[in-house]
Amino acid sequence: MKGIILAGGAGSRLYPLTLVASKQLQPVYDKPMVYYPLTTLIEGGVREICLISTPHDLPRFKQLLGDGSRFGVKFDYREQAKPEGIAQAFLIAESFIARDPVTLILGDNIFYGGDTFQRAFDEFKSGATIFGYHVLDPERYGVVEFDAEGVAVSIEEKPKQPKSSYAVPGLYIYDNQVVEITKSMKPSARGELEITSVNVEYLRRKELHVVRLNRGFAWLDAGTSSSLHEASAYVQTIEKRAGIKIGCPEEAAFHRGQLSLDNLESVVTSIPNCEYRQYLQNVISEARRLAK
Ligand code: G1P
Repeated sequence: MKGIILAGGAGSRLYPLTLVASKQLQPVYDKPMVYYPLTTLIEGGVREICLISTPHDLPRFKQLLGDGSRFGVKFDYREQAKPEGIAQAFLIAESFIARDPVTLILGDNIFYGGDTFQRAFDEFKSGATIFGYHVLDPERYGVVEFDAEGVAVSIEEKPKQPKSSYAVPGLYIYDNQVVEITKSMKPSARGELEITSVNVEYLRRKELHVVRLNRGFAWLDAGTSSSLHEASAYVQTIEKRAGIKIGCPEEAAFHRGQLSLDNLESVVTSIPNCEYRQYLQNVISEARRLAK
């Protein structure tokens, strides 16, 4: 399974924060926003990741993430010259995707709890798998409607009158048809290749699988000043209570076996003395203690 992180857009809703650093580089409590979706992919076992951003912001992402070896993954970087929709990612990354299935995660979506995505990646065979999450304000999102048997019957992008309270979060899994489907699509009224149109096409082909995320699961979006602040507060609350970090890609890579203990140790030596380094050192000490 290949992975795409889409970190484009002007971030206009976060102005003036986004004058000098893109939305997905803003801090969510103690780390850059993009660390969270990156960790979600690593936890799911995705090892080849294409990061897509604007020509202006891409160098910053390269500086932050490098070739990926620090996280036990391999990065490919591609430019989205103009913000022409989420689904455009499949055209930009066509040669990266090659013949494989692909998961796309939006760079401002933060997920926490459970192993639903990991299982969905492992069990994925064909068609498309997307998710449904109960929210208070579904009109801000793609909205999925279910019938009495829990089967998805419609999906609409930001409907004025939502047919359900289930929003579609920004993590999607597709088979290789996604490239051909996107190529056949026309831009919407707002000039974008809509991810919802891709999902509607899979639904029409009867190849769309929608998994409802349960109540124990957190999905936060960090696209406005208020939701950014709330996401930071949420991460801080959990981290302080449990003494574990959310969105720590080095730790996730270690737990997935993508970084050995020795690899993790050498990564840690390159981190300046700070709370993040201390945390990873504790992860190493604990692993060494358990190995005895
Ligand atoms: C996009 C998608 C929408 C999805 C949302 C998840 O919306 O168009 O279907 O529910 O991401 O974050 P946007 O962030 O572009 O408003």
